[in-house]
This record gives sequence, C-alpha cells and structure tokens, in this order.
Amino acid sequence: MKLAVFGLGYVGSVSAACFCNLGHEVIGIDVNPVKVQMINDGKSPVIEPGLTDLISRFVQEGRLRATSNIEEAVAFADVSLVCVGTPSLPNGQLNVEHVVAVFGQIGEQLKRTQKYHVVALRSTMLPDAYLEQVIPELIKAADADQSEKFGICAFPEFLREGTAIKDFFDPPKIVIGEIDKKSGDLLEELNRGIEAPLFRCELQTACMVKYVDNAFHALKVDFANEIARICKPMAIDSYKVMEIFCSDEKLNISPAYLKPGFAFGGSCLPKDVRALTHKAKHLDVEVPVLSNLLRSNEIHYQQLIDTLVTLNKKKLGFLGLSFKEDTDDLRESPIVLVIESMLGKGFSVSIFDENVKLANLIGANKTYIQNEIPHISKLIRDSVETVISESDVVIVSQKHPKFSQVTKSLTNEGLVIDLVNAVQNSGPNNQYKRFC
Ligand SMILES: NC(=O)c1ccc[n+]([C@@H]2O[C@H](COP(=O)([O-])OP(=O)(O)OC[C@H]3O[C@@H](n4cnc5c(N)ncnc54)[C@H](O)[C@@H]3O)[C@@H](O)[C@H]2O)c1
Repeated sequence: MKLAVFGLGYVGSVSAACFCNLGHEVIGIDVNPVKVQMINDGKSPVIEPGLTDLISRFVQEGRLRATSNIEEAVAFADVSLVCVGTPSLPNGQLNVEHVVAVFGQIGEQLKRTQKYHVVALRSTMLPDAYLEQVIPELIKAADADQSEKFGICAFPEFLREGTAIKDFFDPPKIVIGEIDKKSGDLLEELNRGIEAPLFRCELQTACMVKYVDNAFHALKVDFANEIARICKPMAIDSYKVMEIFCSDEKLNISPAYLKPGFAFGGSCLPKDVRALTHKAKHLDVEVPVLSNLLRSNEIHYQQLIDTLVTLNKKKLGFLGLSFKEDTDDLRESPIVLVIESMLGKGFSVSIFDENVKLANLIGANKTYIQNEIPHISKLIRDSVETVISESDVVIVSQKHPKFSQVTKSLTNEGLVIDLVNAVQNSGPNNQYKRFC
C-alpha cells in the first residue's frame, strides 16, 4: 500500500519508517524543510532508539522519501496518515489549527483525483473537534460526496517515546474509528502483520479512547505518588506497598471497578477514603486526587437527583436499595441518600430490594434500618411489579436478573432510568434512559 505521512515529528517519523517495515511505500510531508531533508538523507528527525537505522535502510531501498509537496504526496498515496501536532492553547484548550490546515490541504488535492483515498487522523484529537472542525474542512475543500470518493478514519497512536519502535510493532491495541466499512477495511489492511487486539468503532469512540488512556495513565502516576507522600512520613516503604498493590490482578490492576455506573457506597470505601485523607491532612501532606474522590462520588449521585427533579414525575420507584446487588448492607448507600433527598422534595417513593425485605432482615441491618432510616423502611414493597405499578419513573440501581426485563411491564407513560446498564431494553426508546 502507498502511504502519505503528514508531520514528521515523533509519531510521524516512527510511523513512516515502521509502515515501510511492514512492506508499504511511504512519502513523508512536513512544513519544516530541515526534517524533510533529514529523512531524504536517511537520518531521523527525532531522537528515538533504532529509528535512524530503519529510516536509512528504507530511504536506500527507495521505499521512503520526504517532500514538502502535498500534491505529489496525495497523488501518490492510498492513505494519508495525519500526525501533526495538537498542542494546548494558553487556556488549555486543544489547538486544532495544524490538523485543520492539513485536512484542508488534503481535501484540495482530493478534488483533483478520482482515486479512492482514506484520510486517517493519527494525532490525538477531541471527538467533537474532529467531527465539527476538522472533517468539515476536508469535505468543504474536497467538494465531493465523502462516502464515494474518500474515507475518513480516526487511528490513534499508542506508542511511547523512547520505546516507540517496539511499541509500534507490539502495541497494546489497534483502534480504528471509521466513517464506513470500506475505510476501516483499508486501515485494517494497512496494519496487517501487527499482532494486537483490534477494535473497529465509531470515529468519536476512537478519538475518546486515546484521551481516556492518557488521563488514566496520569491518574495512575498521581495516585502512586500521593500514596508515596502519605507513606513517607509514616516511614512505610511506598515501593513495597505499591508492589503488593499491583500484584493484585483481580481487584486492582484489572477491569474491576472500571465500568461506568452509579456512585460507590457501602461500609468500606467511603469511610476508608475519609480516614486516609484525614490522615494525610494530619501529616500535612497534600493529596488532591484522593481528597476529591468523595466529592466526585457526590457529584455523580447529585446528578441523578437533578435528573429526577427535572423530569418532575412525582412517583418514583427504586429497584435496589443497598449499595450493590447481593448484599443487604445499607450503610452509606448512595441510593438511600438519593431517596432521602427526593422525599424531602415532595416526591413519593416505593422500593424493592431482594435482600432488603424487612421480614428477612437480621442483625445490624435490621437495627440500622429501624433506627437510622425508619421512614424508608415503610416504602419497601414485596415485588418488582408493585413498585412498577406505583411509579412514573423506575430507577434501576442493581444488576439483578429480576430487573433486566422491567421495560416490558411499564405503563405507556412509564420511564426506566438504568444506573448500571442492567436492563435489556426492548421497549420504546422514550421509555428507557441509561444514566451513563
Ligand atoms: N509524542 C508521542 O509520544 C505521541 C504518542 C501518541 C500520540 N501523539 C500525538 O500525535 C500527534 C503528533 O505528536 P508528535 O509528538 O509527533 O508531534 P511533533 O511536534 O513531534 O511533530 C509534529 C510535526 O508536524 C509538523 N507539521 C505541523 N504543521 C504541519 C503541516 N501543516 N503540514 C505538515 N507537517 C506539519 C511539524 O513541523 C512537526 O514536525 C499529537 O497529536 C500527539 O498528541 C504523540
């Protein structure tokens, strides 16, 4: 396949050389004539282990060259890979000007060719900016029916500087966001020879994945460093703590707790986060990530309260009362807090929870419900059906099998709000809302 790589920085020069290594022919384009010259001299424009060797080899073989001539590059290629910079503006906003300029230039050239061409964005770009600012520039300049003459993809890059070549050939994943199957197929073909989990998805999903990755990596670094800052004044070896922490691939380094859903609660997480952040305060250690966990959680359940207030349907049914399924523990259940708030605002409430039927409650929880939330105990019903029949809006907060079909039992006016993606939605779309 023939490839035009726009932007010969870290991502572009590595991509150019490595795609040659997969058997493709590549032409690189950059506004900086020094970088163009370096590639044509067989040198790497960036410091990256092993890159000069690859570039000099493929330039000698005649499979890699660089130019400033966009017309020549687009006419040559089947695929344009856009790897120009997306820096921050002074206020933190994403600067899209380089990408917009390149998409406009490519569009200009596409106007003059009948050959099918895919434009794939390798740069990191916010989904709405890509869809609303960048792609329209290409379509406007190309003046063509996009589905026939060219394809558009988002093809985020996951390499790390310093190990970029190794990462290119052994990536954690390949993500292809596509406007249609034909464009995605071409990019999949381009990546043939790389063994990695492959995901094909919508353009905006692919763009978002890259930001989620980087935000999570940043969160991990800050998390580990905050733990170290708390450990140090207590003379605890933070390296050892994090080593043990990371060895847990069931609950810690795993997909556990990483599904969108409802707020956390229960008898452990809130109290333990509180104790740890209080300790940090006592030690005079700043831990803004940890200190904002409970605040973030609060914002999440407050959003449900705001949604219910806005809907202004007065009869609410809650399927699930404890903080998760298969437990009767009501301590710090965020749903209890939501119910209390809605009762205070004059809404009527009925509740079903398989594990919180009053007759079955024992020990501490019976005492808790009788002493701490007696007003809520009166609202508990014996069946899902009773709750549905008494409610305008049904809020599902647990992944209980009994809740998966609730849309089928709704009245014509009824609405389900699914907090945990538990409901198989077979009803009309206006009767089902997923919270996240
Ligand atoms: N550096 C990384 O490790 C890394 C990893 C993954 C993704 N990314 C993303 O990839 C993108 C590129 O990052 P980078 O580090 O390679 O940037 P970079 O600054 O090293 O390179 C960008 C190149 O684009 C060139 N350029 C600018 N405008 C141009 C135009 N109109 N036409 C042709 N060339 C033009 C610049 O001269 C420069 O050589 C960014 O969006 C970045 O966030 C970077």
